[in-house]
Amino acid sequence: MAELLGTGSSTVRQSDIDRAAEALADGKLVAFPTETVYGLGADAGRADAVAGIFEAKGRPTGHPLIVHMADGADLDRFSSGVSAMARKLADAFWPGPLTIVVGRGDAVAAETVGGMSTVGLRVPDHPVALALLRTFGGGVAAPSANRFGSVSPTTAQHVLDDLGDRIDVVLDGGSSAIGVESTIVDVTGAEPALLRPGGIAEVELEAVLGRPIVDGRTSGAKAPGLLVSHYAPAAEVVLIEPDRAGAALAEGVDQGKRFGIVGPSPMSHDLSWPLPDDANGYAAGLYAALRSADRAGLDRILVVPPSSGPLLSAVLDRLTKAAAPRA
Ligand code: TXA
Ligand code: MG
Repeated sequence: MAELLGTGSSTVRQSDIDRAAEALADGKLVAFPTETVYGLGADAGRADAVAGIFEAKGRPTGHPLIVHMADGADLDRFSSGVSAMARKLADAFWPGPLTIVVGRGDAVAAETVGGMSTVGLRVPDHPVALALLRTFGGGVAAPSANRFGSVSPTTAQHVLDDLGDRIDVVLDGGSSAIGVESTIVDVTGAEPALLRPGGIAEVELEAVLGRPIVDGRTSGAKAPGLLVSHYAPAAEVVLIEPDRAGAALAEGVDQGKRFGIVGPSPMSHDLSWPLPDDANGYAAGLYAALRSADRAGLDRILVVPPSSGPLLSAVLDRLTKAAAPRA
């Protein structure tokens, strides 16, 4: 079983950080909190270390990992040929929930990025993550700390549930505040391209760049978060309009099945996991709600989406993927 370290809050205990950083230096796997979701970290410069991430997650080795850094000033250390656009975004949004895809630098092992010539870089906005990155001193490759294709973890307990017997250390820093993954923007081409909506709204990126961002989500294999079915619990997920909630639950009763409901629904029902109607509050609780609904052994999770808020497109993206037909 993984060794559990940390205070369970964003308070940093340096002895825990030292131990976790040592584990990374030994080529081990360390799960750590970020403001978006928990990451499963390994030394980004070592092929043998990152191989453990792919194995623990059950993730195909061609799917590139994001590299986390302690400081935006390290941009040139882990990249090559950085554009003015990349620097502008880094200055404006780091530390924060934005991953910037740039040319890969030599400090990043080719295996970390599945042999691609680019790398996604990010400086997370979480005191525990930053303390770990600073103490370790190198780049930390970290996908979300869940089994491939399933729901991302927003607590240390979620990580233990999914990967406790496959990894070395879990740093508990409390619940992730944002609750959906980082926005990914590719600035290696002539036009900035959105690869995944996430914790920073697209309009904020456009405001800083002073130009529109194109939708980069058309070429399927570029980012596995783009695969149709992803972020999915074990139960079937069906998206519904709020005014359909009563009828949809009644169908479950008619069929003798266990249906539960997640979202800002006015329904009171035994198997319901209420979330705020505002997309940002909704995002913060979404993955925990889906995991908890899954533990109830439901046949179907009915999900009512939020109606507004800056993170609406990120939430709708994740809900659509959770509800997509399974491969
Ligand atoms: O918020 C986040 O981004 C979290 C935390 C832990 O930082 N990480 C995360 O990683 O969500 P992951 O591996 O679950 O999702 C990263 C996505 C994948 O869809 C991957 O394909 C894409 O980023 N990606 C990574 N490097 C890329 C690259 N060089 N080019 C295109 N897509 C890339
Ligand atoms: Mg993931």
